[in-house]
Amino acid sequence: VPIEAIEAPVTPDLASGGKGRAGRRLAVMRFLNEIADDHPGAISLASGRPADAFFEIDAWLEAIPRFQAHVAEALGTDAAAAGRRLAQYGRTGGMINGLVAGQLLNDEGLDCDPGRIVITAGCQEAIALCIQALCARPGDVVLARNPTYIGATGVADLLGVEIVPLEPHADGDAALALEATAARLAAQGKTARAFYVTPEFDNPTGTVMPLAEREALLAACRALRVVILEDNPYGMFRFDGEAEPHLAAMDRDGVVVYLGTYSKTLCPAVRVGCAAVPKRLFGDEAASAALVAELVERKSYSTVNTSQLNQALVGGVLLREGGTLRRIVEAPRLYYRRNRDLLLERLDTAFAGLESAVTWNRPRGGFFLSLSLPFPFGSADVVRCAAEYGFVVMPMSFFALDDSEQHRIRIAFSGVGPAELTTAIDSFGQYVRDRLRGN
Ligand SMILES: Cc1ncc(COP(=O)(O)O)c(C=O)c1O
Repeated sequence: VPIEAIEAPVTPDLASGGKGRAGRRLAVMRFLNEIADDHPGAISLASGRPADAFFEIDAWLEAIPRFQAHVAEALGTDAAAAGRRLAQYGRTGGMINGLVAGQLLNDEGLDCDPGRIVITAGCQEAIALCIQALCARPGDVVLARNPTYIGATGVADLLGVEIVPLEPHADGDAALALEATAARLAAQGKTARAFYVTPEFDNPTGTVMPLAEREALLAACRALRVVILEDNPYGMFRFDGEAEPHLAAMDRDGVVVYLGTYSKTLCPAVRVGCAAVPKRLFGDEAASAALVAELVERKSYSTVNTSQLNQALVGGVLLREGGTLRRIVEAPRLYYRRNRDLLLERLDTAFAGLESAVTWNRPRGGFFLSLSLPFPFGSADVVRCAAEYGFVVMPMSFFALDDSEQHRIRIAFSGVGPAELTTAIDSFGQYVRDRLRGN
């Protein structure tokens, strides 16, 4: 992917497939894959992968027969017949909805109706289905904070749905920003239908949304009838501080569709996630049922149903664990916390004396930290860091919905070991110092 394809001006151009910013965003994943191929020795702090040392794949595969026995009992058949059932096409909305509802209650404090849950091929499909279903008419728009997860912006781009950043508001008040953005869109004949957000340990910024902001956003979205798509892949990986309630747990008015995934708690290969629709969408039970039906209908023509063998693995693990993933996430949670602590320590060392020039946040959980540099950092700098300094980080501009974020980067600390993390951050410090010296 030519660098120009990523950093080209926003006006439509050939290098980005003639699609401007959307084309540029879609080129980012290819660009990162090519960096990895061209510099296989470079340490990647670019991808939010879970640490694979914690994948208990043999034990998880053994959970499939457990789920099979559970199905046999429920159907009053033998295990072989239940196995044949699992291997068939299945119910589009999913077969482990009750177990997922139980886990969401136990681990996330959410009271979801299994009949309102759609099991999806990872959270990515849940985001895609919701955007399609909610933004079906021309002029329907998704709102998002800026910067935002590239999988959400990317899928909106693919679907041809406009995704619009909340306008910066003078007081930094997100609810006022949302109202102002929706009003501006309305004046242009557009309608804000959904607000995509990751309140817990956000990807890419690593931040947590304060309680007051949650309350204000819920109220604003209820008043404007904007559905909140609450994405929560990282909530179980809290390192310190008290958890805030999820937006879906605070929601009394049917504003929030909760999006879940087993990619980070178990492993990405299961490709099992969910969309949990409120029991009464904006107080309307029929509207809620209609949204579920809409998601299911769209899913039936995209992935037909989520692999029942993969659902059986997740279902079997949930049966084995008594409906909670707390035990399973404990070791990786501690590992990520140690990585976070080590990262903060190495950053302190690497940037000693540069405290006012280079700043970063202290994530209280999750996989990501964001850092501000005193100079712009883009694709050409990614290539240089990979080739000359042996590490890869993500420019925050890759996640931006406009031309902002030129000076920030995202550091993913989940998928590397302590030695690699140390080496990469020390090299990063060297790179920044070289660059500040004009090299
Ligand atoms: C915020 C966010 N949402 C969704 C996903 C996609 O998850 P899944 O593997 O379940 O499709 C990710 C993966 O990195 C993510 O960071």
